[in-house]
Amino acid sequence: MFEKAEELKKLFEEKSNQAAASQDVEQLRIEFLGKKGFVTGLMQELRNVPNEKKKEAGQKINELKQAIEAQIAEKLEEIKKIEEQKLIDATESYDETMPVSVDVGSYHPITLVRREVESIFLSMGFAVEDYSEITDDYNCFEALNIPKHHPARDMQDTYYLSTNQLLKTHTSAAQNTILRKYKSNLEQGNPIRAIFPGRCFRNEKIDACHENTFFQMEGIMVDKDISISNLIYFMKTMLSEVFQRDITVRLRPGFFPFVEPGFELDIQCLICGGEGCPSCKDSGWLELCPCGMIHPNVLTAAGIDPEEYTGFAFGLGMTRLAMMRYGVKDIRVFNSGNLKDLSQFTEKSFTNPENESKEA
Ligand code: DAH
Repeated sequence: MFEKAEELKKLFEEKSNQAAASQDVEQLRIEFLGKKGFVTGLMQELRNVPNEKKKEAGQKINELKQAIEAQIAEKLEEIKKIEEQKLIDATESYDETMPVSVDVGSYHPITLVRREVESIFLSMGFAVEDYSEITDDYNCFEALNIPKHHPARDMQDTYYLSTNQLLKTHTSAAQNTILRKYKSNLEQGNPIRAIFPGRCFRNEKIDACHENTFFQMEGIMVDKDISISNLIYFMKTMLSEVFQRDITVRLRPGFFPFVEPGFELDIQCLICGGEGCPSCKDSGWLELCPCGMIHPNVLTAAGIDPEEYTGFAFGLGMTRLAMMRYGVKDIRVFNSGNLKDLSQFTEKSFTNPENESKEA
């Protein structure tokens, strides 16, 4: 039994070293930890072990199981990083070696993406709203159906200020204010349609993929009879415009306390067209935007009757979108203030309106 456990450990390590895609790791998990897996088989053999050795053998198998679980999690994390990187590399248009041009000003890449998305939503009748970067516990959490001590708060490590306020961890923090602002639309028979882009802050360990300061764009639509189909339609239209091609989307279940049901919206992989490639972990899909149907408690908190009205909300990661759009490999570029990196996007993808009017 002990030898077998050691052998299995070695076998797992060998196979794990060869695993290159998350699909391979999932296969390994089934092979070792699944119902008919090696480790499960070993556990069943426990009943043949003499009583005086049972405890020790049980411990050994448990250790093996935990070690495999930990290695699987680690491996998946590692593969995820590599796969994200490949995707960003594949959309390359950004050149670190480009000389800096100081004669003309330029727009920040986040500004370019934000304007692009804003103009698409404006054309669909959405209002563009602003919101402060400092908020409070009520708006950031409680009005969003995240009561004090709810475990969902752990997902967003927050910067609290000495004034009992905090830096907003997500653009959802503006939902209550904006729902209240436009509530009278509903009474007049019109929908609430708004997007609110903004800077968000979380206590993150900074590396090429994580920043403590990043941009999101939140969107909401509320009216009578708003359904998941409306959500899919708006997201599909917006993403097809951003990526300048027809985008196929799908929804998977996802948990966020302020939406019910909640989803992760995936787009069909832009690189392989859905056939499966390393960039999409061979699944044909890329995770892009969490969303869902606004929770009745969130509508109630804004004074809107959830029996009469329904709505959808989404939270687009704009920093991520800009990375994908421009092939920026390191998230730290955005807050670097380095003109060599940041000034090269304007001419390629955006015509400066001032230049245009000069030419006209
Ligand atoms: N606020 C969430 C976050 O930053 C993202 C989010 C998820 C926003 C679902 C939404 C939504 O509007 O429906 O993690």
